[in-house]
Amino acid sequence: LESIIDDYLSEHFVQESEVLHELYEFALKHQFAHKLTRPVQTRFLCFLLKMMGAKRVIELGTFLGYSTLAMAEALPTDGEVIAVEHNEKWLNMGKPFWEKAGVANKISPYVDDASIALQCLLDEGQGQSFDFIYIDAEKRFYDDYLEKGLQLIHNKGVLAFDNVLHVIHGNVADPQSPTTRALAEFNKNILKRDDLDVSLLPMFDGLLLVRFSR
Ligand SMILES: C[S@@+](CC[C@H](N)C(=O)[O-])C[C@H]1O[C@@H](n2cnc3c(N)ncnc32)[C@H](O)[C@@H]1O
Repeated sequence: LESIIDDYLSEHFVQESEVLHELYEFALKHQFAHKLTRPVQTRFLCFLLKMMGAKRVIELGTFLGYSTLAMAEALPTDGEVIAVEHNEKWLNMGKPFWEKAGVANKISPYVDDASIALQCLLDEGQGQSFDFIYIDAEKRFYDDYLEKGLQLIHNKGVLAFDNVLHVIHGNVADPQSPTTRALAEFNKNILKRDDLDVSLLPMFDGLLLVRFSR
């Protein structure tokens, strides 16, 4: 059933600009194409950004920049996506598509480890200034991204963590793997936090949305 739903969604519920679709087709040929954020999920992220009136966004883990481009297209002309990726080669592969789409001016590429990048933004005094952070980098460090992310968003901001259902299915279902154990702990702990509203969307392998409950 899951794959029938996937096929239906891909056929009827994907809305991509021409260049975004070109980047998707390009990325599908990549050896690590499975890393791509799915178009249906990307469309949901863009819906959220527009609904929130978001302007300042951070993405942790851009891969070839598919969701980066989609989010940049969804932001107003003075919007910005800080695109953090530790693999410079992969980040650079997305740039020609961002330029062709005319939104490269809204994307600030940041080649570094995600935790270091978040700490640098905090050290630069950018705390409480972001509307939205899409978290799709190293799953073992989700605790750290949560702690720093909560300092970077303002009080109505949202954090979105991808792949939190890897614990149950996905490609790291081995309960002994460090990634599975870290995600299981992360999921368990975040639900105990009464300062946060937490909502899990069972979309693909799980998208967890977090905001301050106050
Ligand atoms: C699932 S992919 C991201 C997919 C992307 N959002 C898209 O639209 O296709 C995860 C990316 O995070 C990067 N990554 C993993 N660990 C990281 C870290 N500690 N710091 C920065 N980037 C990291 C990987 O190199 C990879 O490109």
